[in-house]
Amino acid sequence: MKKTYQLKVVKKEVLNDEIFKFELDKPEDMPAIYPGQFFGLAASRTGYPLLKRPISVSKVLDKSIEFTVKVVGEGTRLLLDKEINDLIEVIGPVGNGFFLNEITDKSLIVGGGIGISPVKELARYLKEEKGLKLPVVLGFRDKPFDMEDFSSISDEIEIATESGIEGHKGYVTYILEERLKSGSVDQVLVCGPHMMLKAVKELCERYNVITQLLMEERMACGIGACLVCTCAIKEEGEMKNKRVCKDGPVFYGSEVVFDV
Ligand SMILES: Cc1cc2nc3c(=O)[nH]c(=O)nc-3n(C[C@H](O)[C@H](O)[C@H](O)COP(=O)(O)OP(=O)(O)OC[C@H]3O[C@@H](n4cnc5c(N)ncnc54)[C@H](O)[C@@H]3O)c2cc1C
Ligand code: FES
Repeated sequence: MKKTYQLKVVKKEVLNDEIFKFELDKPEDMPAIYPGQFFGLAASRTGYPLLKRPISVSKVLDKSIEFTVKVVGEGTRLLLDKEINDLIEVIGPVGNGFFLNEITDKSLIVGGGIGISPVKELARYLKEEKGLKLPVVLGFRDKPFDMEDFSSISDEIEIATESGIEGHKGYVTYILEERLKSGSVDQVLVCGPHMMLKAVKELCERYNVITQLLMEERMACGIGACLVCTCAIKEEGEMKNKRVCKDGPVFYGSEVVFDV
């Protein structure tokens, strides 16, 4: 049974018109948090909206946990209204996260949009806990956000923007393919919008490169009980519905079936 906590907002920073991050104090009795895991955050204390919103951990600090949130609807807008010292009810850490033992020194980290936030924690964890500094490729529609913090973690970051405001003009897949062609990558660890995950998986398959995909499906219970968050997985030739919240959110790209 996952534990519920009331955590205090200890830091808050608005990054742009739609994205903000905040830190919640981390209780000493909380289990270890691994990259790719998430928490269910209650958006309000009134019981509306009822369901907790799944938000990935964007950084684990000594005494706090950072979350980075894009405002898309009522729940995330209510989270933006939280101020320092407000309490937020959370459940977690939830999910299995990245397959850390399988990560090689030729792995590449890829993030797109708000999907840069869980891979920031992945890059931090691998560098600080495992001594593994991996290159990072990040994609944005327009102006990149949270780059100051990301750059303090990773020495090698390449950027693609659709608007061309910074870095390569276009998609992350262009930079990824250049690296795949050079043979310097044997595994890609990625989080981003569905279309990007699908494109990265398909591209990597052409180069026989393994992918770990952090999937973001709509969730209800967030703890494996309701089956709202299922995605199609092919396991030993058999199609199965797996729960993103409990069996994921990270799956091997070779297992994920996008077109069902
Ligand atoms: C494992 C996991 C980790 C996530 N990590 C983060 C994170 O670190 N930061 C972050 O900002 N968001 C993250 N999300 C997405 C976040 O949970 C949703 O954006 C949020 O629940 C929307 O709530 P809302 O009440 O604001 O919007 P709603 O009113 O519920 O929805 C508004 C819009 O957002 C879309 N939406 C809702 N849920 C999702 C979803 N799960 N994925 C994509 N689109 C969605 C809806 O289709 C709708 O268009 C994550 C989702 C999952 C499943
Ligand atoms: S959200 Fe209920 S099983 Fe995943």
